[in-house]
Amino acid sequence: MPEFKTLDNVDVRGVRVLVRVDLNVPMKDGKCTDRTRIDRLAPTLKELIDKKARVVVISHFDRPGGKVVPSMSLKPLAPELGRSLGVTVMFAEDCVGPKAREVVDKLRDGDVALLENLRFHAGEEKNDPGFARELADLADIYVDDAFSAAHRAHASIEAITRLRPAYAGRLMQAELEALGGALEKPQRPVMAIVGGAKISTKLQLIGNLAKKVDRLVIGGGMANTFLAAQGREIGKSISEPDMLKTALEILETAKRDGCEILLPTDAVIAREFKANAPHETVSVTAVPKDAMMLDVGPATVRAIEQSLASTKTVVWNGPVGAFELTPFDAGTTAIARAVAARTKARTLMSVAGGGDTIAALAKAGVIDQFSYVSTAGGAFLEWLEGRELPGVAALARTSEMARQGAR
Ligand code: 3PG
Ligand code: MG
Repeated sequence: MPEFKTLDNVDVRGVRVLVRVDLNVPMKDGKCTDRTRIDRLAPTLKELIDKKARVVVISHFDRPGGKVVPSMSLKPLAPELGRSLGVTVMFAEDCVGPKAREVVDKLRDGDVALLENLRFHAGEEKNDPGFARELADLADIYVDDAFSAAHRAHASIEAITRLRPAYAGRLMQAELEALGGALEKPQRPVMAIVGGAKISTKLQLIGNLAKKVDRLVIGGGMANTFLAAQGREIGKSISEPDMLKTALEILETAKRDGCEILLPTDAVIAREFKANAPHETVSVTAVPKDAMMLDVGPATVRAIEQSLASTKTVVWNGPVGAFELTPFDAGTTAIARAVAARTKARTLMSVAGGGDTIAALAKAGVIDQFSYVSTAGGAFLEWLEGRELPGVAALARTSEMARQGAR
Protein backbone atom coordinates (compact mmCIF):
# COMPACT_ATOMS: atom_id res chain seq x y z
CA MET A 1 0.00 0.00 0.00
CA PRO A 2 1.33 3.49 -0.79
CA GLU A 3 2.36 5.61 2.11
CA PHE A 4 0.82 8.97 2.75
CA LYS A 5 0.22 11.46 5.50
CA THR A 6 -3.11 11.30 7.33
CA LEU A 7 -5.01 13.51 9.75
CA ASP A 8 -2.84 11.99 12.48
CA ASN A 9 0.10 13.98 11.12
CA VAL A 10 -1.29 17.50 11.33
CA ASP A 11 -2.66 20.00 13.84
CA VAL A 12 -5.70 21.56 12.19
CA ARG A 13 -6.95 23.92 14.91
CA GLY A 14 -7.81 27.26 13.29
CA VAL A 15 -6.39 26.01 9.99
CA ARG A 16 -8.32 26.37 6.71
CA VAL A 17 -8.63 22.84 5.34
CA LEU A 18 -9.69 22.21 1.75
CA VAL A 19 -11.34 18.78 1.71
CA ARG A 20 -11.92 17.08 -1.66
CA VAL A 21 -14.87 14.72 -1.32
CA ASP A 22 -17.09 12.87 -3.78
CA LEU A 23 -20.65 14.15 -3.49
CA ASN A 24 -21.53 12.64 -6.86
CA VAL A 25 -24.52 10.89 -5.26
CA PRO A 26 -27.79 9.80 -6.85
CA MET A 27 -30.35 12.62 -6.65
CA LYS A 28 -34.03 12.75 -7.49
CA ASP A 29 -36.14 15.94 -7.23
CA GLY A 30 -33.43 17.72 -5.23
CA LYS A 31 -33.13 14.90 -2.65
CA CYS A 32 -30.35 12.40 -2.25
CA THR A 33 -31.67 8.88 -2.87
CA ASP A 34 -28.64 6.99 -1.58
CA ARG A 35 -26.67 8.47 1.30
CA THR A 36 -23.86 5.90 1.35
CA ARG A 37 -21.15 8.23 0.02
CA ILE A 38 -22.22 11.04 2.39
CA ASP A 39 -22.33 8.77 5.44
CA ARG A 40 -18.95 7.28 4.61
CA LEU A 41 -17.17 10.63 4.26
CA ALA A 42 -18.84 12.22 7.29
CA PRO A 43 -16.27 10.92 9.84
CA THR A 44 -13.46 12.92 8.20
CA LEU A 45 -15.48 16.13 8.29
CA LYS A 46 -16.66 15.45 11.86
CA GLU A 47 -13.09 14.92 13.00
CA LEU A 48 -12.03 18.22 11.40
CA ILE A 49 -14.98 20.02 12.99
CA ASP A 50 -14.20 18.52 16.41
CA LYS A 51 -10.57 19.57 16.04
CA LYS A 52 -11.74 23.13 15.28
CA ALA A 53 -10.54 23.40 11.71
CA ARG A 54 -12.18 25.75 9.21
CA VAL A 55 -13.54 23.22 6.78
CA VAL A 56 -13.93 24.01 3.07
CA VAL A 57 -15.58 21.13 1.20
CA ILE A 58 -15.14 20.75 -2.56
CA SER A 59 -16.58 18.17 -4.96
CA HIS A 60 -17.71 17.51 -8.50
CA PHE A 61 -21.24 16.51 -9.36
CA ASP A 62 -22.15 14.69 -12.57
CA ARG A 63 -20.51 15.82 -15.81
CA PRO A 64 -21.43 19.44 -16.64
CA GLY A 65 -18.47 19.67 -19.03
CA GLY A 66 -16.75 22.83 -17.79
CA LYS A 67 -19.77 25.13 -17.77
CA VAL A 68 -22.51 26.08 -15.33
CA VAL A 69 -25.43 23.66 -15.56
CA PRO A 70 -27.94 24.71 -12.87
CA SER A 71 -29.46 21.22 -12.55
CA MET A 72 -26.00 19.98 -11.52
CA SER A 73 -25.54 22.44 -8.67
CA LEU A 74 -24.21 21.10 -5.37
CA LYS A 75 -26.48 23.49 -3.46
CA PRO A 76 -29.11 20.86 -2.48
CA LEU A 77 -26.28 18.81 -0.98
CA ALA A 78 -25.35 21.43 1.64
CA PRO A 79 -28.38 20.56 3.81
CA GLU A 80 -27.92 16.83 3.06
CA LEU A 81 -24.34 17.08 4.30
CA GLY A 82 -25.49 19.14 7.29
CA ARG A 83 -27.91 16.35 8.22
CA SER A 84 -25.09 13.83 8.44
CA LEU A 85 -22.79 16.20 10.34
CA GLY A 86 -25.34 17.73 12.70
CA VAL A 87 -24.22 21.26 11.81
CA THR A 88 -25.29 23.96 9.36
CA VAL A 89 -23.23 23.82 6.20
CA MET A 90 -22.73 27.17 4.46
CA PHE A 91 -22.81 27.22 0.67
CA ALA A 92 -20.80 29.32 -1.81
CA GLU A 93 -22.20 29.73 -5.32
CA ASP A 94 -18.78 29.32 -6.90
CA CYS A 95 -15.79 27.18 -5.96
CA VAL A 96 -13.21 29.90 -6.72
CA GLY A 97 -13.15 33.70 -6.96
CA PRO A 98 -14.94 36.35 -4.86
CA LYS A 99 -18.05 34.27 -4.07
CA ALA A 100 -15.95 31.43 -2.67
CA ARG A 101 -13.61 33.81 -0.87
CA GLU A 102 -16.50 35.64 0.82
CA VAL A 103 -17.89 32.44 2.36
CA VAL A 104 -14.49 31.03 3.34
CA ASP A 105 -13.56 34.31 5.04
CA LYS A 106 -16.68 34.01 7.22
CA LEU A 107 -15.71 30.60 8.58
CA ARG A 108 -14.86 30.42 12.26
CA ASP A 109 -13.05 27.51 13.89
CA GLY A 110 -15.23 24.39 13.58
CA ASP A 111 -17.40 25.80 10.76
CA VAL A 112 -18.06 24.06 7.44
CA ALA A 113 -18.74 25.44 3.96
CA LEU A 114 -19.51 23.59 0.75
CA LEU A 115 -18.42 25.20 -2.52
CA GLU A 116 -20.21 24.91 -5.87
CA ASN A 117 -19.49 22.12 -8.38
CA LEU A 118 -15.80 22.06 -9.39
CA ARG A 119 -16.68 20.86 -12.90
CA PHE A 120 -18.49 24.15 -13.65
CA HIS A 121 -14.93 25.30 -14.47
CA ALA A 122 -13.14 23.77 -17.45
CA GLY A 123 -9.83 23.97 -15.55
CA GLU A 124 -10.90 21.19 -13.17
CA GLU A 125 -10.92 18.31 -15.64
CA LYS A 126 -7.89 19.75 -17.48
CA ASN A 127 -5.84 19.53 -14.28
CA ASP A 128 -5.10 23.20 -14.90
CA PRO A 129 -2.42 24.60 -12.55
CA GLY A 130 -4.03 28.07 -12.64
CA PHE A 131 -7.38 26.70 -11.50
CA ALA A 132 -5.62 24.62 -8.82
CA ARG A 133 -3.89 27.79 -7.65
CA GLU A 134 -7.27 29.52 -7.25
CA LEU A 135 -8.48 26.60 -5.14
CA ALA A 136 -5.27 26.52 -3.11
CA ASP A 137 -5.66 30.24 -2.35
CA LEU A 138 -8.74 29.36 -0.27
CA ALA A 139 -6.95 27.16 2.24
CA ASP A 140 -3.77 26.32 4.14
CA ILE A 141 -3.76 22.55 3.74
CA TYR A 142 -5.45 19.99 1.51
CA VAL A 143 -7.17 16.72 2.43
CA ASP A 144 -8.25 14.19 -0.21
CA ASP A 145 -11.13 12.00 0.92
CA ALA A 146 -12.44 11.16 -2.55
CA PHE A 147 -11.13 7.65 -3.24
CA SER A 148 -14.01 7.18 -5.68
CA ALA A 149 -12.65 10.02 -7.84
CA ALA A 150 -8.96 9.12 -7.40
CA HIS A 151 -8.80 7.73 -10.95
CA ARG A 152 -9.26 11.26 -12.31
CA ALA A 153 -6.16 13.44 -12.75
CA HIS A 154 -8.13 16.62 -12.15
CA ALA A 155 -7.03 19.94 -10.66
CA SER A 156 -8.71 19.39 -7.28
CA ILE A 157 -7.14 15.94 -7.03
CA GLU A 158 -3.73 16.13 -8.68
CA ALA A 159 -2.48 19.68 -9.42
CA ILE A 160 -3.59 20.93 -6.01
CA THR A 161 -1.19 18.55 -4.22
CA ARG A 162 1.71 20.51 -5.73
CA LEU A 163 0.51 23.67 -4.00
CA ARG A 164 -0.47 22.76 -0.45
CA PRO A 165 0.56 20.11 2.10
CA ALA A 166 -1.64 17.12 1.25
CA TYR A 167 -3.18 14.51 3.53
CA ALA A 168 -5.44 11.48 3.06
CA GLY A 169 -8.85 11.71 4.71
CA ARG A 170 -10.25 8.88 6.82
CA LEU A 171 -12.39 7.43 4.02
CA MET A 172 -9.48 7.45 1.57
CA GLN A 173 -7.41 5.70 4.22
CA ALA A 174 -10.12 3.15 5.03
CA GLU A 175 -10.79 2.31 1.37
CA LEU A 176 -7.13 1.71 0.60
CA GLU A 177 -6.58 -0.31 3.76
CA ALA A 178 -9.67 -2.46 3.24
CA LEU A 179 -9.11 -3.08 -0.46
CA GLY A 180 -5.43 -3.74 0.07
CA GLY A 181 -6.12 -6.13 2.93
CA ALA A 182 -8.80 -8.01 1.03
CA LEU A 183 -7.41 -8.10 -2.46
CA GLU A 184 -3.65 -7.62 -2.51
CA LYS A 185 -3.18 -11.40 -2.19
CA PRO A 186 -6.68 -12.75 -2.76
CA GLN A 187 -7.58 -16.39 -2.26
CA ARG A 188 -8.17 -18.04 -5.62
CA PRO A 189 -10.15 -18.65 -7.67
CA VAL A 190 -11.12 -14.99 -7.98
CA MET A 191 -14.31 -14.08 -9.79
CA ALA A 192 -15.08 -10.58 -11.06
CA ILE A 193 -18.65 -9.62 -11.91
CA VAL A 194 -18.84 -6.58 -14.16
CA GLY A 195 -22.07 -5.06 -15.38
CA GLY A 196 -23.77 -1.72 -15.66
CA ALA A 197 -24.43 0.67 -18.50
CA LYS A 198 -21.20 2.72 -18.70
CA ILE A 199 -19.93 0.42 -21.42
CA SER A 200 -17.19 2.20 -23.35
CA THR A 201 -15.30 3.29 -20.25
CA LYS A 202 -15.33 -0.24 -18.86
CA LEU A 203 -14.67 -2.36 -21.92
CA GLN A 204 -10.94 -1.76 -22.04
CA LEU A 205 -10.81 -2.29 -18.34
CA ILE A 206 -12.46 -5.68 -18.69
CA GLY A 207 -9.62 -6.72 -20.95
CA ASN A 208 -7.10 -5.91 -18.23
CA LEU A 209 -9.22 -7.47 -15.53
CA ALA A 210 -9.28 -10.75 -17.44
CA LYS A 211 -5.53 -10.98 -16.82
CA LYS A 212 -6.01 -10.66 -13.05
CA VAL A 213 -8.96 -12.87 -12.28
CA ASP A 214 -9.80 -16.51 -12.92
CA ARG A 215 -13.47 -16.03 -13.77
CA LEU A 216 -15.15 -13.06 -15.30
CA VAL A 217 -18.92 -12.67 -15.32
CA ILE A 218 -20.11 -10.08 -17.80
CA GLY A 219 -23.66 -8.81 -17.46
CA GLY A 220 -25.76 -5.71 -18.01
CA GLY A 221 -25.42 -3.55 -21.09
CA MET A 222 -21.83 -4.64 -21.58
CA ALA A 223 -22.75 -8.27 -22.17
CA ASN A 224 -24.79 -7.27 -25.24
CA THR A 225 -21.69 -5.97 -27.01
CA PHE A 226 -19.96 -9.29 -26.40
CA LEU A 227 -22.99 -11.28 -27.57
CA ALA A 228 -23.20 -9.13 -30.71
CA ALA A 229 -19.49 -9.67 -31.28
CA GLN A 230 -20.14 -13.41 -31.24
CA GLY A 231 -22.62 -12.87 -34.06
CA ARG A 232 -25.80 -13.07 -31.98
CA GLU A 233 -28.95 -11.11 -32.78
CA ILE A 234 -29.38 -8.66 -29.87
CA GLY A 235 -32.46 -6.83 -31.18
CA LYS A 236 -32.81 -3.35 -29.72
CA SER A 237 -30.60 -4.01 -26.67
CA ILE A 238 -28.10 -1.26 -25.83
CA SER A 239 -24.64 -2.05 -27.13
CA GLU A 240 -21.62 -0.46 -28.70
CA PRO A 241 -21.37 -1.55 -32.33
CA ASP A 242 -17.96 0.09 -32.83
CA MET A 243 -16.50 -1.96 -29.98
CA LEU A 244 -17.26 -5.40 -31.44
CA LYS A 245 -13.68 -5.99 -32.51
CA THR A 246 -12.35 -4.99 -29.09
CA ALA A 247 -14.87 -7.32 -27.46
CA LEU A 248 -13.73 -10.25 -29.60
CA GLU A 249 -10.10 -9.50 -28.82
CA ILE A 250 -10.91 -9.47 -25.12
CA LEU A 251 -12.57 -12.88 -25.41
CA GLU A 252 -9.57 -14.30 -27.24
CA THR A 253 -7.00 -12.85 -24.84
CA ALA A 254 -8.99 -14.08 -21.86
CA LYS A 255 -9.03 -17.60 -23.31
CA ARG A 256 -5.28 -17.47 -23.80
CA ASP A 257 -4.73 -16.20 -20.26
CA GLY A 258 -6.88 -18.97 -18.82
CA CYS A 259 -9.64 -16.68 -17.61
CA GLU A 260 -13.06 -18.22 -17.91
CA ILE A 261 -15.66 -15.78 -19.22
CA LEU A 262 -19.29 -16.22 -18.27
CA LEU A 263 -21.69 -14.46 -20.62
CA PRO A 264 -25.48 -14.67 -20.34
CA THR A 265 -27.02 -17.75 -21.95
CA ASP A 266 -30.56 -16.54 -21.45
CA ALA A 267 -32.14 -13.13 -20.99
CA VAL A 268 -35.32 -11.43 -19.89
CA ILE A 269 -36.55 -9.40 -22.82
CA ALA A 270 -39.13 -6.63 -23.20
CA ARG A 271 -40.24 -4.19 -25.86
CA GLU A 272 -40.27 -1.14 -23.58
CA PHE A 273 -37.67 0.18 -21.14
CA LYS A 274 -40.03 0.61 -18.22
CA ALA A 275 -40.98 -1.05 -14.95
CA ASN A 276 -43.32 -4.01 -15.33
CA ALA A 277 -43.19 -3.89 -19.12
CA PRO A 278 -44.53 -7.18 -20.56
CA HIS A 279 -41.55 -9.54 -20.62
CA GLU A 280 -40.43 -13.09 -21.27
CA THR A 281 -37.30 -15.21 -20.87
CA VAL A 282 -35.55 -16.42 -23.99
CA SER A 283 -32.25 -18.01 -24.93
CA VAL A 284 -29.65 -15.47 -26.13
CA THR A 285 -29.87 -17.30 -29.46
CA ALA A 286 -33.52 -16.31 -29.81
CA VAL A 287 -33.76 -12.58 -29.13
CA PRO A 288 -36.39 -11.05 -31.44
CA LYS A 289 -35.35 -8.05 -33.56
CA ASP A 290 -37.84 -5.71 -31.87
CA ALA A 291 -36.96 -6.65 -28.26
CA MET A 292 -34.26 -5.65 -25.80
CA MET A 293 -32.51 -7.67 -23.13
CA LEU A 294 -33.12 -6.07 -19.74
CA ASP A 295 -31.86 -8.75 -17.37
CA VAL A 296 -30.04 -12.05 -17.28
CA GLY A 297 -32.31 -15.09 -17.19
CA PRO A 298 -32.56 -17.88 -14.56
CA ALA A 299 -30.24 -20.28 -16.40
CA THR A 300 -27.50 -17.63 -16.36
CA VAL A 301 -28.10 -17.00 -12.66
CA ARG A 302 -27.80 -20.74 -11.97
CA ALA A 303 -24.53 -20.94 -13.88
CA ILE A 304 -23.12 -18.05 -11.87
CA GLU A 305 -24.30 -19.61 -8.61
CA GLN A 306 -22.63 -22.87 -9.57
CA SER A 307 -19.37 -21.11 -10.32
CA LEU A 308 -19.62 -19.20 -7.04
CA ALA A 309 -19.69 -22.51 -5.16
CA SER A 310 -15.99 -23.03 -5.94
CA THR A 311 -14.99 -19.35 -5.93
CA LYS A 312 -13.00 -18.00 -2.96
CA THR A 313 -13.02 -14.27 -3.71
CA VAL A 314 -15.55 -12.22 -5.63
CA VAL A 315 -15.33 -8.58 -6.71
CA TRP A 316 -18.39 -6.93 -8.16
CA ASN A 317 -19.01 -3.69 -10.00
CA GLY A 318 -22.20 -2.98 -11.92
CA PRO A 319 -25.66 -4.57 -11.88
CA VAL A 320 -26.30 -7.37 -14.41
CA GLY A 321 -29.66 -5.95 -15.48
CA ALA A 322 -31.83 -2.82 -15.41
CA PHE A 323 -32.08 -3.21 -11.63
CA GLU A 324 -33.89 0.08 -11.13
CA LEU A 325 -36.91 -1.30 -13.01
CA THR A 326 -38.90 -4.13 -11.40
CA PRO A 327 -38.84 -7.01 -12.31
CA PHE A 328 -35.60 -6.56 -14.25
CA ASP A 329 -33.72 -6.45 -10.93
CA ALA A 330 -34.34 -10.18 -10.38
CA GLY A 331 -31.01 -11.41 -11.78
CA THR A 332 -28.93 -8.87 -9.84
CA THR A 333 -30.89 -9.59 -6.65
CA ALA A 334 -30.50 -13.36 -6.97
CA ILE A 335 -26.74 -13.09 -7.52
CA ALA A 336 -26.40 -10.59 -4.66
CA ARG A 337 -28.21 -12.97 -2.30
CA ALA A 338 -26.09 -15.91 -3.42
CA VAL A 339 -22.90 -13.96 -2.77
CA ALA A 340 -24.22 -12.75 0.60
CA ALA A 341 -25.15 -16.29 1.70
CA ARG A 342 -21.72 -17.68 0.84
CA THR A 343 -20.02 -14.73 2.53
CA LYS A 344 -22.06 -15.43 5.64
CA ALA A 345 -21.10 -19.11 5.47
CA ARG A 346 -17.46 -17.93 5.31
CA THR A 347 -16.70 -19.77 2.09
CA LEU A 348 -16.40 -16.53 0.12
CA MET A 349 -14.75 -13.14 0.55
CA SER A 350 -16.86 -10.52 -1.24
CA VAL A 351 -16.05 -6.96 -2.23
CA ALA A 352 -18.45 -4.73 -4.15
CA GLY A 353 -18.15 -1.14 -5.29
CA GLY A 354 -19.90 1.60 -7.22
CA GLY A 355 -22.98 3.77 -6.90
CA ASP A 356 -25.41 1.55 -8.81
CA THR A 357 -23.97 -1.59 -7.27
CA ILE A 358 -24.45 -0.20 -3.77
CA ALA A 359 -28.03 0.79 -4.64
CA ALA A 360 -28.68 -2.68 -6.06
CA LEU A 361 -27.28 -4.43 -2.97
CA ALA A 362 -29.34 -2.14 -0.75
CA LYS A 363 -32.45 -2.97 -2.79
CA ALA A 364 -31.66 -6.68 -2.41
CA GLY A 365 -31.30 -6.14 1.36
CA VAL A 366 -27.78 -7.61 1.56
CA ILE A 367 -25.51 -4.57 1.68
CA ASP A 368 -24.35 -5.40 5.23
CA GLN A 369 -23.62 -9.00 4.35
CA PHE A 370 -20.73 -8.38 1.97
CA SER A 371 -17.17 -8.49 3.33
CA TYR A 372 -16.53 -4.95 2.14
CA VAL A 373 -18.43 -2.36 0.12
CA SER A 374 -16.43 0.41 -1.53
CA THR A 375 -17.88 3.83 -2.31
CA ALA A 376 -15.92 3.77 -5.55
CA GLY A 377 -16.98 2.37 -8.91
CA GLY A 378 -14.58 3.28 -11.71
CA ALA A 379 -11.74 3.99 -9.28
CA PHE A 380 -12.27 0.61 -7.61
CA LEU A 381 -12.06 -1.20 -10.95
CA GLU A 382 -8.93 0.68 -11.97
CA TRP A 383 -7.35 -0.04 -8.61
CA LEU A 384 -8.24 -3.69 -9.14
CA GLU A 385 -6.57 -3.68 -12.53
CA GLY A 386 -3.41 -2.64 -10.75
CA ARG A 387 -3.34 0.78 -12.34
CA GLU A 388 -1.85 3.70 -10.48
CA LEU A 389 -4.64 6.08 -9.43
CA PRO A 390 -3.54 9.72 -9.93
CA GLY A 391 -5.17 10.81 -6.67
CA VAL A 392 -3.43 8.13 -4.60
CA ALA A 393 -0.13 8.62 -6.43
CA ALA A 394 -0.25 12.37 -5.73
CA LEU A 395 -0.71 11.76 -1.99
CA ALA A 396 2.13 9.23 -1.97
CA ARG A 397 4.43 11.60 -3.88
CA THR A 398 3.85 14.53 -1.54
CA SER A 399 4.40 12.32 1.48
CA GLU A 400 7.67 11.02 0.02
CA MET A 401 8.79 14.59 -0.65
CA ALA A 402 8.01 15.59 2.92
CA ARG A 403 9.98 12.62 4.23
CA GLN A 404 13.01 13.49 2.15
CA GLY A 405 12.71 17.14 3.21
CA ALA A 406 12.76 16.06 6.87
CA ARG A 407 15.97 14.07 6.44
C1 3PG B 1 -18.09 8.25 -9.72
O1 3PG B 1 -19.28 8.48 -9.51
O2 3PG B 1 -17.68 7.13 -10.10
C2 3PG B 1 -17.10 9.32 -9.44
O3 3PG B 1 -17.71 10.37 -8.79
C3 3PG B 1 -16.39 9.77 -10.70
O4 3PG B 1 -17.30 10.36 -11.58
P1 3PG B 1 -16.91 10.50 -13.11
O5 3PG B 1 -16.97 9.11 -13.70
O6 3PG B 1 -17.93 11.43 -13.72
O7 3PG B 1 -15.51 11.08 -13.19
MG1 MG C 1 -20.82 7.23 -11.00
